[in-house]
Amino acid sequence: MRIVAIDGPAAAGKGTLARRLAAALGLPYLDTGLLYRAVGRLVLDAGGDPHDPAMAEAAARRLDPSDLGRADLRGPAADAAASGVAAIPGVRAALLDFQRGFATKGGAVLDGRDIGTVIFPDAPVKLFVTASPAERARRRWLELRGKGSDADLATVERDMRARDERDSARSAAPLKPADDAVVIDTSDLDAEAAFQAALAVVRDRLG
Ligand code: DC
Repeated sequence: MRIVAIDGPAAAGKGTLARRLAAALGLPYLDTGLLYRAVGRLVLDAGGDPHDPAMAEAAARRLDPSDLGRADLRGPAADAAASGVAAIPGVRAALLDFQRGFATKGGAVLDGRDIGTVIFPDAPVKLFVTASPAERARRRWLELRGKGSDADLATVERDMRARDERDSARSAAPLKPADDAVVIDTSDLDAEAAFQAALAVVRDRLG
């Protein structure tokens, strides 16, 4: 199976890279963060607390693929809700089959936090895409400003560091590179250079 597993913290450039790799390889692409975002939203819609294991797990079980297309999966509230539900083992278990099932037809490119460690531990290609916290905050801030938000850089950086800390410190599938992942630090790379670095790894591993 041609599985390309891409993990790393927020705003490191995973999504852009994953989309380009998927197009170049002719494989489908899944942004697995959307699953946790949609579950967080379902809990909020029901007036619940994203840290409540019973509610979050029930929401994960009734997740429908159409929920991934919702327009309200980004922004500070959705970020916090996603990070909350993502720490609950029952939520992660409920989303496992969806992620594995996505890659049944010849392969896929998936990005997230635990693709190479938990979802596809045997993936032939594993990339861990990262960048310095300051650079990731700057990118997220520019993205938010481009969408008309007046968020200030210090707040964006504080929220992002807090979310990274939760994603890395949790006991259920914490964010960390797989032992056999190739680390790509995009702090000083533009999108094209990151793509070329990743493509070299893919060619090496997939032939
Ligand atoms: O990649 P993202 O920012 O859209 O992810 C949203 C949240 O979901 C983030 O707090 C980490 C979590 N997540 C996860 O735990 N495992 C994944 N495979 C993908 C995302």
